[in-house]
Amino acid sequence: MESLRIEGGVPLSGTVRIDGAKNAALPACVAALLTDEPIVLHRVPQLRDVSTILYTLGALGKRVVRHGDHVAIAAGSGLSSEADPYSVRQMRASFLVLGPLVARLGEAVVPLPGGCRLGARPIDLHLRALRTLGARIEEREGIVHARAERLHGARIDLPLPSVGATEQILMAASLAAGETVLTNASIEPEVLDLVRLLQEMGAEIGVSGREMRIVGRERLHAAEHTVIPDRHEAGTYLLAGAITKGRVTVSGVESDALKAFLGALRETGTRILVEEDAVTVEPGGTARPISIATAPYPGFPTDLHPQFAAYLSTIPGLSRIEERIFESRFAYVDALCAMGAQLSRTGTTLTIEGVETLRSAAVSATDIRAGAALVLAGLAAEGYTCVTELEHIDRGYSCLEGKLENLGARIERRSD
Ligand code: UD1
Repeated sequence: MESLRIEGGVPLSGTVRIDGAKNAALPACVAALLTDEPIVLHRVPQLRDVSTILYTLGALGKRVVRHGDHVAIAAGSGLSSEADPYSVRQMRASFLVLGPLVARLGEAVVPLPGGCRLGARPIDLHLRALRTLGARIEEREGIVHARAERLHGARIDLPLPSVGATEQILMAASLAAGETVLTNASIEPEVLDLVRLLQEMGAEIGVSGREMRIVGRERLHAAEHTVIPDRHEAGTYLLAGAITKGRVTVSGVESDALKAFLGALRETGTRILVEEDAVTVEPGGTARPISIATAPYPGFPTDLHPQFAAYLSTIPGLSRIEERIFESRFAYVDALCAMGAQLSRTGTTLTIEGVETLRSAAVSATDIRAGAALVLAGLAAEGYTCVTELEHIDRGYSCLEGKLENLGARIERRSD
């Protein structure tokens, strides 16, 4: 079993270069299903989730070549309509292949998805939208079967701006006959990155606020695309700087995408310097407790909630976090309490009574962001913290311990 052993209490200092966004790279890889021509992607992070999606595409018949953070996906042995159950069950994003497959082949057989254990995480909006686009869908024994001679454009009003459902609709509608009008769409930067890639592939997509208009094409073509930087990775390293009262710069980022997060961080008293493609945190005056609520973009991202909770746990006074996206985002709470944090939860709101110091403990990651939160807590805690179940962390952070070590952290990965 692998674990991270962290000796806390060292103020971090230095610069960390941010990788491409996992949540943009995954749909970008899936978009390659929409054409037989090659799709070349740059700044693709070297993560387990990316390997999983590329394996899924390979198993569907695509030819995948990966070299560092460059990926080329082209036609291979012919496209199959049946997705590999193992890889789809590992990761929810693999379910995105449903729309492109039914749009290309008229048929798709895809198991219900897995992924982080974040509450029910249903896929009803994906299925409802594909039905509105003309797909006939049946669900039997955990497998979704979808059929359509040709999808057709339609009006789709999402009851909530689901990231995955928006991506599913964008891809399916790009090959449907006629125009699709999608309202209440997700406008997360990762979704808009997919819009750019689809446009580069020849799709006609207009975005105005949360409304998207997609005019379907007979076929899409080759494209070359660079994935946007990972704002969740950037936020995590900035918090590593803040929680250790150090000075950390993240480079290669788009600070606009971090606005709500940086606003909250600034409100706690941390000093923030924003340059063209870099952001630096350094200690300000006395740290202040704050209240935040997660929300769809441009709101505070749910993927930075657990890490922010770890940070707020170290600021004396009462802070609050309201989680409005995923009911089960709080999986980290017990582990953080074991490290001395004073947290109490009522429904979707967490109250944090900041403490002077966290203490070390042996804790387990339960999902990607919960794992990151425990590592941050370990960096600030007294003594040696041991974090296990690293497979969750490795899904979303490449070389976490190496990057932290470069910032001066005392951290090592051990296999027992
Ligand atoms: C994506 C991100 C994830 C992020 C989340 C919210 C990827 C690979 N993952 O997940 O990191 O935390 O966006 O920003 O990009 N819902 C339904 N029915 C559906 C779909 C969603 O009820 O059919 C609900 C979910 O249960 C959840 C909310 O909508 O409460 C948001 O989910 P969604 O935006 O779809 O998240 P994902 O695409 O799964």
